[in-house]
Amino acid sequence: MTEGIETIFTAEQIRARVNELGAEISRDYQKRSLVLLCILKGSFVFAADLARAIELPLRIEFMGVSSYGEDTKSSGVVQITQDVSTPLAGEDVLIVEDIVDTGLTLHYLLQQIQTRGPASVRICSLLHKPAREMKKVAIDYLGFTIEDRFVIGYGLDWAQKYRNLPFIGEVTNP
Ligand code: IMP
Repeated sequence: MTEGIETIFTAEQIRARVNELGAEISRDYQKRSLVLLCILKGSFVFAADLARAIELPLRIEFMGVSSYGEDTKSSGVVQITQDVSTPLAGEDVLIVEDIVDTGLTLHYLLQQIQTRGPASVRICSLLHKPAREMKKVAIDYLGFTIEDRFVIGYGLDWAQKYRNLPFIGEVTNP
């Protein structure tokens, strides 16, 4: 299953970085409770690990967003495929995203979430690919910056596959 895949970040490297992010978030929010808003599908693995690295009372919400078809190129069209189950009004919301690529998805999502009257909104993204940026989005907590390559694993897919790889890699031999 991992043939033709070059490892970019090992499971160990990811674990260490996620623990650092969790500690930073726990420090910053002090004793406040927060809502971790996991953006499906790509961030489900990251959010599960991050939630366990945060030492604060928290609530988990999920939002389904689709910005890609079965291809590796952004269509620029963002669609909400699933919404939160309880209101975000008055809450400290931390959006958990797998990767910020063009920034189109988060730019759109931020606008949507702001209209719901949260106390605050911050962004935590595991990866950032600045080379392809089309909309600037301020990432408050960032795992790793990567070059312009299409990565898979640890929740990230290629045509819905590879999400279950425990590491992050690049398909070198499709
Ligand atoms: P953006 O709107 O271009 O910033 O793209 C955001 C979404 O595109 C991410 O949440 C991912 O689901 C997907 N995406 C962007 N780059 C990659 C990649 O390298 N591998 C897998 N999915 C990606």
